[in-house]
Amino acid sequence: MVRVIGFLVGLGFVFVLGFSLITGAINYVSNPPAETVEHEFHRHAHAPEGGFASDGPFGRFDRQQLQRGFQVFKEVCAACHSLQYVAFRNLTDLGFTEPEVDAIADQWQIQVPTVDPETGEETTRNAVAADRFPHVYPNETAGRAANNNAYPPDLSLITKAREGGAAYTYSLLTGYQDPPEDLPEANRPGTGLYYNPYFANLNLAMPPPLTADGQVTYADGTEATIDQMAEDVTAFLIWTAEPKLEARKSTGWAVLIFLVFATVLAWLAYQNVWRDQKH
Ligand code: HEC
Repeated sequence: MVRVIGFLVGLGFVFVLGFSLITGAINYVSNPPAETVEHEFHRHAHAPEGGFASDGPFGRFDRQQLQRGFQVFKEVCAACHSLQYVAFRNLTDLGFTEPEVDAIADQWQIQVPTVDPETGEETTRNAVAADRFPHVYPNETAGRAANNNAYPPDLSLITKAREGGAAYTYSLLTGYQDPPEDLPEANRPGTGLYYNPYFANLNLAMPPPLTADGQVTYADGTEATIDQMAEDVTAFLIWTAEPKLEARKSTGWAVLIFLVFATVLAWLAYQNVWRDQKH
């Protein structure tokens, strides 16, 4: 008896599920979801021509490029964006010497909050190599107040944090344009917003940061076109998000080579152990 009741209850569930599946499917076919404007105008991220030096299994950072990218970050992005997981001393990875790093920290445009040892009052001091990059704003509210209510996100991990990764950051920086003619009124940028088809909702609160060729002057003589600056600063942000990328790739190769070797060894041992046995 209990079995029969259990069977009937099960059958009831199957019927309800089957019914909702069929009505749902009919509804989906007869009345497909409308494509949103965001979806229609959105463009997918693309890497710069030739990709990044760090791409692929043999990818390596181009130290010269990282230094240029750091320069763009320092002279342009650092006005609004923090880099809270990177310390000044990490810059030696880019090929800066220790005295150079000390000077960069000492002259950084934002000071580090501290407490006066004499009076106990809050004050600020120059950064030192051991400090992480200081926050631009004292807190998020202040950051929003200064940026049309949009908080400039910390950039340390941004190339890992967005769909499309580094290609997205590069595309976003080079993707500002006038809104297309056929963009509906409701999706046009309001005051303080800028049209950029790579941003998920098409309008973002970051004013185009790279606006003119030659905005920074590179020490190594590279021509600072908008495209070059975007590519360099993105390469720098790939490094901030994964400073150990090169070590990871070399370790990966060492492990693969070891596994191939171990496989050959195991196969030879197998041959040896079973040599005198009839199969
Ligand atoms: C004038 C201030 C300002 C400057 C300078 C600036 N940004 Fe921004 N940035 C913002 C604000 C504000 C946002 C948040 C935009 C939003 O959410 O609408 C933002 C967002 C971003 C985002 C995240 C977009 C997303 O998908 O959420 C990236 C990446 C970014 N900025 C990179 C940069 C880089 C690289 C530079 C330097 C070349 C730079 N920004 C310079 C203010 C700035």
